[in-house]
Amino acid sequence: MLDTLLFAVFPYVAVALAVVVGFYRYFSDRFSYSSLSSQFLENRGLFWGSVSWHYGILAILLGHLIGFLIPRSVLAWNGVPWRLYVLEASALMFGILTLWGLVVLIIRRFSSARIRVVTSLMDIVLLVVLLVQVVAGVWTAIFYRWGSSWYAGFAVPYLWSIIKFSPDISLVNNLPFMVKLHIIGAYVIVGLIPFTRLVHLLSFPFTYFWRPYQVVIWNRRKETRG
Ligand code: HEM
Repeated sequence: MLDTLLFAVFPYVAVALAVVVGFYRYFSDRFSYSSLSSQFLENRGLFWGSVSWHYGILAILLGHLIGFLIPRSVLAWNGVPWRLYVLEASALMFGILTLWGLVVLIIRRFSSARIRVVTSLMDIVLLVVLLVQVVAGVWTAIFYRWGSSWYAGFAVPYLWSIIKFSPDISLVNNLPFMVKLHIIGAYVIVGLIPFTRLVHLLSFPFTYFWRPYQVVIWNRRKETRG
């Protein structure tokens, strides 16, 4: 029963929340579609944390996407042991880079008084959820080998069953706790997008590369200088 709620109902609730609240926020408060830069308050920790985090998580999510789109090719690639080791070792390297970047960003947020005063409750919730998600992912990669192969064999058919509106939870309900946590964590993150600074994911800032510089001015009622 709980598995049905978590793996067959919750994914749709999370996507519906992301879409409905995302649109609502876009049309009611378009200027809030941002990750609210704090670069001018502290830059060094942000550089090391943000660069590691973003390169790491983009590579990892691209890996998840490739496995999702061409699972048979991934399985064929993994058919030769050295290729499997190269794929898994690269994924683990990016997983650790992601974790390192996130930990730097978390430490920065709480060790700088200037950053602390501009940190909202939702920022904290998001950081905790992302940390749990990345730890569960790296944990899965280390303790339940070989993830790239069984991801293609079990998790991808499960994800497709969700997309086709006929969820098949028998593919996931026997997985270990940390793997289940990792899957549920993904839905929690999707549901949180419009409520947090993750909303910047939906803004597709392609024009960023050719637009002129912008001056960032925070418009807050409270005095925010630390
Ligand atoms: C917001 C969504 C997600 C994020 C941020 C995320 C993040 C991560 C990270 C950081 C790792 C560690 C990579 C490594 O060290 O090898 C990982 C591994 C993994 N994730 Fe995810 N993940 C997400 C969604 C999912 C979903 C929906 C599934 C399955 C349904 C999944 C299945 C896996 C598996 C099987 C591994 C182990 C891969 C391996 O052993 O190489 N992830 N994930």
